Amino acid sequence: MSKAAIILAAGAGTRMKSALPKVLHKVAGLPLLGHVMAALKDAGVDRIVVVTSPAGEAVRDYAKAWGADSAIQHQQLGTGHAAASAKDALADFAGTLVIINGDMPLVTGDVISECLKAQARTGLAMLAFEAADPAAYGRVLLTPDGFLNRIVEYKDATDSERTITLCNGGCYAAEAANFFRWAAALKNENVQKEYYLTDVPAIARTDGVKCAIAVADEVSVTGVNSRAELAAAESKFQARARLRLLAGGVTMTAPETVFLAYDTAVESDVEIEPFVVFGPGVAVKTGARIRSHSHLEGATVAGGAIIGPFARLRPGAKIGEGAHIGNFVEIKNAVIEKGAKANHLSYLGDARVGAGANIGAGTITCNYDGFTKAITDIGAGAFIGSDTALVAPVKIGDGAITAAGSVITQDVAADALAIARGVQTEKPGWAKAFRDKKKLEQK
Ligand code: UD1
Ligand code: MG
Repeated sequence: MSKAAIILAAGAGTRMKSALPKVLHKVAGLPLLGHVMAALKDAGVDRIVVVTSPAGEAVRDYAKAWGADSAIQHQQLGTGHAAASAKDALADFAGTLVIINGDMPLVTGDVISECLKAQARTGLAMLAFEAADPAAYGRVLLTPDGFLNRIVEYKDATDSERTITLCNGGCYAAEAANFFRWAAALKNENVQKEYYLTDVPAIARTDGVKCAIAVADEVSVTGVNSRAELAAAESKFQARARLRLLAGGVTMTAPETVFLAYDTAVESDVEIEPFVVFGPGVAVKTGARIRSHSHLEGATVAGGAIIGPFARLRPGAKIGEGAHIGNFVEIKNAVIEKGAKANHLSYLGDARVGAGANIGAGTITCNYDGFTKAITDIGAGAFIGSDTALVAPVKIGDGAITAAGSVITQDVAADALAIARGVQTEKPGWAKAFRDKKKLEQK
């Protein structure tokens, strides 16, 4: 049976107090909406319609980048009204439909699959969870035989209903034609004067369809409505991601200080010291060591390499086997080949550093003239003396040496020594004579 999904992402997101649409705020470097789309794809849902507000151009662009369609909810009249706005976009679709909030960054394919399984039993299902702190989630009331009786939104709930801890997780599944028929019958008779998606099960019951409950863990259905909830979701995501790495054989002495991106890929027997931050697009291979206070994004690190402490790997950094990148070294769009070392205070951008080359402290690739970027190519086994400025485009041959303090503007042949600095002169006794003269003047 084919599966499609409607992601609700047209809400005003008022509680975020942001010019950026809520679903484009990020958790672990990926917009909330991206997390939901990834989970749907994991659950085998291949057709997705994202419901957006008329002003949600950026959300529609983001959906498109994921190969999803979008629909416009012309007025923000509630979640039920939003879901119904996807009807035309799915006019040719027959099959099971998942309707899911766009603000659930911790949702997984497994959790959505559980909701789909429950749907197969009765024709309609929703995700519920036991909340440690139910806060403003909708409360779930069950029938004696364990089906959904109704959902009461927090704002409409009585004091006693607010003590209920079983809450609405914000994900539903139904057969498409049924769903759109039920959604069309929604009314807005509630405190917020909104068409609530949460009233669909009561309408389905008049059709003789019971709503089954799939119980999810609380973390997976965490909703984000405010900056505080965004920070809380980030923290839960990080906790889960760190456990995933530890379970995969990664050593972290203080995992609570290591920050991971949604796609951080770290193999077994990698050691990550405290206070390391991973941006998106990082892969670290078995046996590498990432030392404290390093920041990595868009980078790959091969086995046996040592990064940091205090190193920065920017997009396009490819660190080869056994290479060392030390403190205050920044690497951008550069390949550092096997066993090469840049241990102190350097900037290597738009470069290749050949196998076994040694980059002295203070080396800078001058890769940008204010208009274009140029390449620095350093051969295998080359020795770049401390404080060398390599003015790109420039090529240093295999095994060549540059003298400390050189400004290298021309290519250097293999095995040559290049010296490009002022010649030292010495004036014997000058310093003492100078001091004696100054002392006399002061008397
Ligand atoms: C909603 C549920 C609540 C549940 C919670 C789970 C309703 C009425 N309430 O509350 O029972 O416990 O999610 O996180 O559904 N949206 C639109 N158009 C609208 C209104 C909202 O597209 O007119 C979208 C929002 O962008 C959001 C989603 O629907 O992605 C849910 O809306 P939100 O305002 O976050 O609802 P909650 O108060 O979190
Ligand atoms: Mg919400």
